[in-house]
Amino acid sequence: MPSSVLFVCLGNICRSPTAHGVFEKRVLEAGLEEKIIIDSAATAAFHVGNPPDPRTIRAAASRGYDLSQQISRQVTREDFYRFDFILPMDRMNLGNLKALQPKDFKGHLGLFMDFSKQRQYSQVPDPYSDGPEGFELVLNLVEDAAQGLLEHIRREKLQGDFCVE
Ligand code: 4NP
Repeated sequence: MPSSVLFVCLGNICRSPTAHGVFEKRVLEAGLEEKIIIDSAATAAFHVGNPPDPRTIRAAASRGYDLSQQISRQVTREDFYRFDFILPMDRMNLGNLKALQPKDFKGHLGLFMDFSKQRQYSQVPDPYSDGPEGFELVLNLVEDAAQGLLEHIRREKLQGDFCVE
C-alpha cells in the first residue's frame, strides 16, 4: 500500500502548494513516486478552482519547482479516509482539521513543521500579506521539513519494501 500525504493551509495558494511541489520533487528524485501519493488542500474556500498565487509560483520556479499545474481545492471529510498523513502548516489550520476529523481516523494529523530539523519555527508563517522574503522563508522551511518527512516515511512506512529475502 502506498503512503499518502495531504498538505493543508488556509487558501491552498501559497504554503501547501509549495509543500506539495517541493515534496513531489524530493519523492521523484528518490524514485518513490509509485509509493507515495501527494496532494494539497485548503481549509477555506476563498480560492477554490484557482492556481497558486503568482508570487508562490515565481518563488518556487526560481528553485526548480513547477507549481503551475496545481488547482486549489477544499479539504473534505473523505480526505481523512484517503490520506495517512494530514499535515497543516499552522496551528489554526490544525484546529480546523481536528474539528473535521472523523472519530475513526487512523492516520497522522499534525503540524508539517514537526518533521523539520530547524527549531526556530514550529509553523510555516502565512506569506500572503508579506513581500518576497515571506515566500523565500516558506520555501526554506518547507524544503527542510520535506527532507525530514521523506526520511520518516522511508524509515517508518517503506522499510519492508526494500527487504531482500
Ligand atoms: P495560504 O495563504 O494559506 O498559504 O494559501 C493565504 C492565501 C490566501 C489568504 C490567506 C492566506 N487570503 O486571505 O485570501
